[in-house]
Amino acid sequence: MDKCRLVVFDTTLRDGEQAPGFSLTTDEKVRMARQLEALGVDIVEAGFPIASEDDAEAVRKVALALERPIVAALARCAPNDIDRAAWAIAPARRSRIHTFIATSDLHLDRKLRMTREAALDAAVAAVRRARGYTSDVQFSAEDATRSDRDYLCKVIESVIEAGATTINLPDTVGYSTPDEVAEFFTSIIGRVPNADRAVFSTHCHDDLGLAAANSLAALGAGARQVECTINGIGERAGNASLEEVIMATRIRADRLPFETSINTRELYPSSQLLTSLTNESVQANKAIVGRNAFAHEAGIHQDGMLKDRRTYEIMRPEDVGVPRTTLVLGKHSGRHAVQKRCEQLGYELTRQQLDAAYRRMTSLADTQKHITDADLEGIIAEVSGTARRAAREFAVPEAGYGFGV
Ligand code: KIV
Ligand code: ZN
Repeated sequence: MDKCRLVVFDTTLRDGEQAPGFSLTTDEKVRMARQLEALGVDIVEAGFPIASEDDAEAVRKVALALERPIVAALARCAPNDIDRAAWAIAPARRSRIHTFIATSDLHLDRKLRMTREAALDAAVAAVRRARGYTSDVQFSAEDATRSDRDYLCKVIESVIEAGATTINLPDTVGYSTPDEVAEFFTSIIGRVPNADRAVFSTHCHDDLGLAAANSLAALGAGARQVECTINGIGERAGNASLEEVIMATRIRADRLPFETSINTRELYPSSQLLTSLTNESVQANKAIVGRNAFAHEAGIHQDGMLKDRRTYEIMRPEDVGVPRTTLVLGKHSGRHAVQKRCEQLGYELTRQQLDAAYRRMTSLADTQKHITDADLEGIIAEVSGTARRAAREFAVPEAGYGFGV
């Protein structure tokens, strides 16, 4: 099956960074931007320069630091915003101005207090102004998925005519469902007469937990740029998580025939760097990068994993940069995992000793969440004064598997 090349637009440093608790200093932004370059994203949206002096400086520093990715800056459809964005990205080897205005009546009437005509004029003028600075101009119709279709198509046609090369249609408030998003992109791309002159882009928020699914639906319906963030950070419930979208296309290439320039082994290091810079950890059960994404405690699962990892893992941890699978000893663990861990620690137990150790381990696990190696060694000493301690090098876990707490 032929694969379509997707453009990966990372907005961790803009949509992600503007969420409460995720702000970064300029130096931190540059460090993160370098990691995004190592990860292989095509575009780094570095900030919103008109928002503050610091943000403008940070975008400029990122523009100076990166070699391969396009550096994008956000701007409202207003002359000062465009000029500031242009200043900030000027040092970049390849740059993009990303200008946006809301197109839904709700946003136009209640937030911007603007008519549809005035918003259309502002959009066209902003794109023309941006084209005076760079040939790579992205236009976003904020709240696109809740906009009147006829009006939205008119705006898109007009901004492409004015020089926009990418058209982003955000599900700004994460309201859509995957089938709706697919129908939306199919209909818009089919109706806009000059649609073939622009790349269509998807930017989904996660208010209903559907951002990754909605992004994939948009790609299936003709979008060729996906906007996402590391760890899914972003406004409110966040944006589509880059690691989820990318791994879905890798693991289910049979259904999602897309290729990207992402080096998946850099996914976990990117996630880790972001959590250390922001001091905000990801939830333990977060797909791909959460602490439990490759951890198993239940006895049946551990037994399956010890026999063949494919029983309970659909991807290899090392392929996303996670050092290894962890088999966690706890009250749900079985004999097989206890035996394996004892062996790895260098103890040979008889059948009776193992049974006794297992019973002790499960009753201790009723009183504490996890069983550490020290706990297990204490139990082994109790059940068998004669348990032989083997050379320490036998304690190395088997390839790909480790035990953790
Ligand atoms: O969610 C949104 O609509 C945005 C735009 C500025 C692209 O972040
Ligand atoms: Zn957004």
